[in-house]
Amino acid sequence: MPDRFYVTTPIYYVNDVPHIGHAYTTIAADVLARHHRSLGRQVRFLTGTDEHGQKIDRAARAQGLEPIQLADRVVERFLTLWDRLNLRPDDFIRTTEPRHEKVVDLLFRRVREKGDIYLGEYEGLYCTGCEEYYTESTAVEGCCPIHKVPLDRLKEKSYFFRMSKYTQPLLEHIRAHPEFVQPEIRRNEIVSFIREGLRDLSVSRTSFRWGVPVPDDPDHVIYVWIDALSNYISALGWDGSDGGGELFSAHWPAVHLIGKDILRFHAVYWPTLLMSAGLPLPKTVYAHGWWTVEGEKMSKSLRNVVEPYALVDAYGADAVRYFMMREVPFGLDGDFSHSALIGRLNAELANDLGNLLNRSVTMVEKYADGRAPTPRSAQGVEEKLIEVARKVTRESADHLEHYAFHKALGSIWELVRATNRYIDEAAPWTLFKNKENERLDTVVYHIIESLRFIGVLIYPFIPETAENLLGQIGLEKNHTSRKFIESWGGLKPGTRVKKGAPLFPRIDKDRAEEIVTRFHDAGKEEKAKKEDPEMITIEDFQKTDLRVGVVKSAERVKKSDKLIKFQVDIGESEPRQIVAGIGKAYEPEDLVGKQVMVVTNLNPVKLMGVESRGMLLAAGEGDKDVVVAEFHGDVKPGESVH
Ligand code: MSP
Repeated sequence: MPDRFYVTTPIYYVNDVPHIGHAYTTIAADVLARHHRSLGRQVRFLTGTDEHGQKIDRAARAQGLEPIQLADRVVERFLTLWDRLNLRPDDFIRTTEPRHEKVVDLLFRRVREKGDIYLGEYEGLYCTGCEEYYTESTAVEGCCPIHKVPLDRLKEKSYFFRMSKYTQPLLEHIRAHPEFVQPEIRRNEIVSFIREGLRDLSVSRTSFRWGVPVPDDPDHVIYVWIDALSNYISALGWDGSDGGGELFSAHWPAVHLIGKDILRFHAVYWPTLLMSAGLPLPKTVYAHGWWTVEGEKMSKSLRNVVEPYALVDAYGADAVRYFMMREVPFGLDGDFSHSALIGRLNAELANDLGNLLNRSVTMVEKYADGRAPTPRSAQGVEEKLIEVARKVTRESADHLEHYAFHKALGSIWELVRATNRYIDEAAPWTLFKNKENERLDTVVYHIIESLRFIGVLIYPFIPETAENLLGQIGLEKNHTSRKFIESWGGLKPGTRVKKGAPLFPRIDKDRAEEIVTRFHDAGKEEKAKKEDPEMITIEDFQKTDLRVGVVKSAERVKKSDKLIKFQVDIGESEPRQIVAGIGKAYEPEDLVGKQVMVVTNLNPVKLMGVESRGMLLAAGEGDKDVVVAEFHGDVKPGESVH
C-alpha cells in the first residue's frame, strides 16, 4: 500500500457562489485526507479556484468589476465555507497566481518541444457558458445542449494539441490500470469515447485575453481547460524538469475527485497532455454523481433551498458532512432533501451515536466514579462486541480504499448499534443494583473502549464530533490516529471521563418545519424574482458595493451650477473622485467631513468632462430639495453598508 496520498478537487469557477455540488467533492476529499492521515500516510489535499476565461471576464464586467476583483470576492466565500465545514486543504491554488501561470507556460512549452503543438484554424459552434465548441451533431438545433442558448459560429486561428496521437497509449493505460478511471460505468463511457478515435484538441484562443498567453505568441491565450488542469501540478511547484521538484516528486501522482460532467477533461485531455510532457498519469480519476434538490435538478432557485452556509447554520457542519457522505453512493446521483437530512440527523446522529455517548458517560460517572475501570475477564457478550469492532475497523478502511463513503459509515454504525445493544444486554444498572462490581467494571470498560474505537473511526467524516466524543472519554484531540485502535484494550484504566454537551440535539417536528420553511422561502425569493422582474434577491442587492465614505474635499465643477466634485475616503489607499449633481442644494464645504453612503462599483462616467467613479446616495425631488444620506454614528470609511 503506498504511503502517500495526494487528493484533489476540481478548481471551482469564480463566476458562481459556492453550492452543495462544490461542497460535496471538497467534503469527500477532506474525509479521504483525514482518513489517510489517520493511517499515518503522507497526505496532501488540494483545492482552489479557476479564475481565467471569458466566462469569468464577462461575469465580472457585468458587475462592474475587474475579473480579479470578482475572483477575490468569491475566493473569500469559498474559504469561509471550507472553514465552516471544517475542510482543511493543505493548499488552495488560484489560477491567477504567478506560481500557477508559470507552470501553464512551462507545460505548454514542454508539449510544444515534443512536437505535439501546431498552428491551425478552428471553426465551430461555440458556447461561452461551457467555454467549448460544439459540432453540428452535438448542438441541439444550433443551441447549446446545456445552456439552451444559440451558439456562436466562430472561426479562429488556434494552436492544436496532437491528442489523436495518444489514442492507443491511453487505451492501453486504462486497460493496464483498472483503478485509473472509476467507477466502472464511467470507465466504460470513457473507453468507448476513446475508441472512436481522439481528435486533435484546440488549445488556444484569440477571442479573449483573460488568461495565460501562449509562449512566444501572445495574440493567443492558452485554452482555459489546460490552464485549469495544470493546477494539479502547479500547486506542487512542478519545475519543468523530469523529477519535477521536491513537492512534485514527493506527492505526484494524484487522486482526482471530480463530478461526472468534467470526466472527459480529466480522463482524456489531462492524461494525454501528461503523456506528451513525459509525466506520470494520475493514479485515479473518480467521477461522482450529481445532486438533485428535493427531487429536482439544481436550478438557481433550488440552490437557495440548500445554500451551504445556511445548511451549516441550521444543522452544523458535521450533520451536513455526515449526510452527504452517507446518503448516496459516491459514484451515483442522489437527492438532497431536508427531510432526509433531518431523518438521519435524528436517528443516526442524535439517537444512535449521541445517546450512546450520553448514556455511557452518565454510567461511568454513576457506576465508576467518573473513571475508566479496570476490566476483568471478558465473556461471550464482550467477545462479540470486540469482534464487531475489529471487523468494522477493517471494513471501513477497505470501503474508503474504494471510495465507498456510504458503506464505510454504514459499517461504523454497525459498531455504534452493537455497542448500544451490548449495553442493553449487559445491563450495567442491574449489575450495579446487585453489587456485581467486577462484572460491572468489565462492562463499563468495554463500553468506553468501544466508544474510543468509534471516535477514531468517525473522525475523518465528522471530526468535530469525534474530538468532542474523545474529549468526553478523557482523551486528547490527537487521539484520532488509527494506530490507537490497532488493538482492543488501549484505553488506560483510570482515565477520567468528562461529561459534555450532547453531540447532536434532536430536531423536533416544529423546529424541522421552521427550518424547512426558511429554506424554501429563500428558494421562493429567487423564483419570485424570475416571475416578477421587479423583485431582486439578496444576491442581486449584494452586487451593489455600498460603503461608508468620508468627504475629504469638495469643489464646484467649472461652468456648472449643479455639479460638485468630491474626493471621498472609502477606505482605499487613495480617495475616490465622485461627481454629484447636488450643487443647488449644497455648498461644497457643507459636506466636507460628513459620513456619506457611496455606491463604489458603478462604471465610471464623465460628467462635463470630469470623471466620476461612484455615486453618493441622496433623496428629494427637485434640485434644490436634495438631501444627501448621512451616517451619524461611529462608522469607518470603507465599511460596507448592508
Ligand atoms: N472549473 C471547472 C473545473 C476545472 S478542474 C481542473 C468547473 N468548475 S465548476 O465550478 O463549474 O464545477 C465544479 C464541480 O461542481 C464539478 O465537479 C461539478 O461536477 C460539480 N457540480 C456542479 N453541480 C453539481 C451538482 N448538482 N451535484 C454535484 N456536483 C455538482 O467545472
